[in-house]
Amino acid sequence: MRIAVPKEIKNNENRVALTPAGAQEFTKNGHQVFVQETAGLGSGFPDEAYQKAGATILPSIEETYSKGDMIMKVKEPIEEEYPLIQENHLLFTYFHFASNKPLTQAMINSKAICLAYETVEKEDKTLPLLIPMSEVAGRMSVQKGANYLEKPLGGRGILLGGVPGTLPAKVIILGGGIVGTQAAWMAAGLGADVIILDVSLSRMRYLSTVMPKNVKTMMSNEFNIRSLIPTADLIIGAVLIPGAKAPHLITRDMLKEMLPGTVLVDVAVDQGGCIETCTPTTHEDPTYTIDGVLHYCVANMPGAVPYTSTLALTNATLPYALELAQKGWKKACIKFPELSFGFNIIKGDIVYQAVADTFNLPHVPVSYYLNHH
Ligand SMILES: NC(=O)c1ccc[n+]([C@@H]2O[C@H](COP(=O)([O-])OP(=O)(O)OC[C@H]3O[C@@H](n4cnc5c(N)ncnc54)[C@H](O)[C@@H]3O)[C@@H](O)[C@H]2O)c1
Repeated sequence: MRIAVPKEIKNNENRVALTPAGAQEFTKNGHQVFVQETAGLGSGFPDEAYQKAGATILPSIEETYSKGDMIMKVKEPIEEEYPLIQENHLLFTYFHFASNKPLTQAMINSKAICLAYETVEKEDKTLPLLIPMSEVAGRMSVQKGANYLEKPLGGRGILLGGVPGTLPAKVIILGGGIVGTQAAWMAAGLGADVIILDVSLSRMRYLSTVMPKNVKTMMSNEFNIRSLIPTADLIIGAVLIPGAKAPHLITRDMLKEMLPGTVLVDVAVDQGGCIETCTPTTHEDPTYTIDGVLHYCVANMPGAVPYTSTLALTNATLPYALELAQKGWKKACIKFPELSFGFNIIKGDIVYQAVADTFNLPHVPVSYYLNHH
């Protein structure tokens, strides 16, 4: 198969869908890899590293798309890329169709096969190609929080772990899923006092067995949240209710009960945020202050650490991509049944129910293509 890796052109996107190590796996197995010039540079991978791995570097995005059977990307194609997508293409990338009607229509019109990272779903309902980015964002939330707690950046001026003779900072984490767990490890490792609030007792039981002593769990409800916030230094929002907007667990009136210089990091901002006063910000201008409380609400946190994010993402995508190249998109679903949930659009038909429902468009079950065509 011919694998093409265009350079991401979405604003400030420095990740790349394939590393030189991944390129080598493809070429070793007899596939051809085409990488657009400087596609890996933002993640620290120069063209020469891909060439050494047997890939061909191409000068333009047009040529790169035209050479590929499978197009591997990170972000959804943007408008300038629509005309480059052909009927014979298998696109393997994040799409997030439900929030983008023009993209959905363009991909229907292209007749290409669209395999979305974000909907690849295992039997236990986990999303293996979203988890790595949650891990990055969770760990980063504490790094950011610790930084913004410094006085010159607007915070309370407290060191997360304190020093002997002083109390450490108090970190409240709302939601103990992937993001919350990774945040808790980092905050605990730095010596903070950490409390994770969740609504799932079984999740909290699990967390209480694996977390160090300075991490406690507590049922998430308004009463408990109100009791904790007057002494919190850093609050991390990491709640997810699949398919729904995040609930506002911290409301505007609660800010007045917080200490001046408290830092809020709402990682769930991409789903509407679990802190009412959070609105999406960017890495260029990541924070703002309301009632003396500092808010950090960057919607694409992993974008700031492209080296780690690219490796984390490609570690998860590569086994699927290799199987797709080896066996083709239908047979790849035999070894990896979770891939069948990843198909969103095939040859002009929407095959993912939620996307069809969002736009009130017809839905064709993916089994129609996997079993018969
Ligand atoms: N900003 C970014 O760059 C970025 C990056 C990755 C993920 N995210 C977002 O982070 C959020 C969390 O993702 P995740 O992978 O950890 O999800 P997850 O499903 O692993 O965890 C969510 C947790 O929230 C808990 N929860 C549900 N309702 C709750 C409530 N009322 N109070 C407390 N906890 C509650 C669930 O029980 C679950 O444990 C998502 O919105 C995700 O999109 C953002």
